Amino acid sequence: ANNTAGLQGFPKYKIANIKDIQSTSCPVYFFAYPLTNEPCFLVDFSKLNNQTNVEFKNPYYGQFAINSKFPTIKGVGPKGSICAFSAICVHLGCQLPAQVLTSSPNIPGLNPATTILHCPCHGSMYKLDKGGIVVGGPAPRPLPIIFLEYDNTTGDIYAIGTNAPYFSKTRPTSNLIYDPDYSYQIPSNPACTSG
Ligand code: FES
Repeated sequence: ANNTAGLQGFPKYKIANIKDIQSTSCPVYFFAYPLTNEPCFLVDFSKLNNQTNVEFKNPYYGQFAINSKFPTIKGVGPKGSICAFSAICVHLGCQLPAQVLTSSPNIPGLNPATTILHCPCHGSMYKLDKGGIVVGGPAPRPLPIIFLEYDNTTGDIYAIGTNAPYFSKTRPTSNLIYDPDYSYQIPSNPACTSG
């Protein structure tokens, strides 16, 4: 469906509690949002490469009404270290293996040292600690971010919207278009392996 309503157009879902993240050494935690077949992942940069109080520019600021409130993205949680991204490559829609921790950014998976997530299909590379910007391969645009809210009394983490379409057959211009023709598996948590 087209969505031009901004944040009001997205559901607010509880996607995890901070204990779910803290109880594993895996820095990545999968969830589905906004539809049940759309894989996304939380990344805790404090576990990935010791970054806290993470903050980066929203690469889609200036595009889509929803981004007007978010010129920058800040990590949530007690260390300000948790952010979330789509796990669907914006090139041709392959699922990104963020759970595969790699020793090199040139290997498909997520390299903790560089925070580069490398797509196994055609080699697109997204740098997560710069907001998912493209640093290699054919991806035409940055990896979409999921906006998060953290309740520090309960430890609950909520998804409240996304900054861009995850994937569409053509490069989107003005609408947030979700393509229901694609379906994916959401990996079970904790999902980390080495690659
Ligand atoms: Fe990821 Fe082509 S689908 S690089």
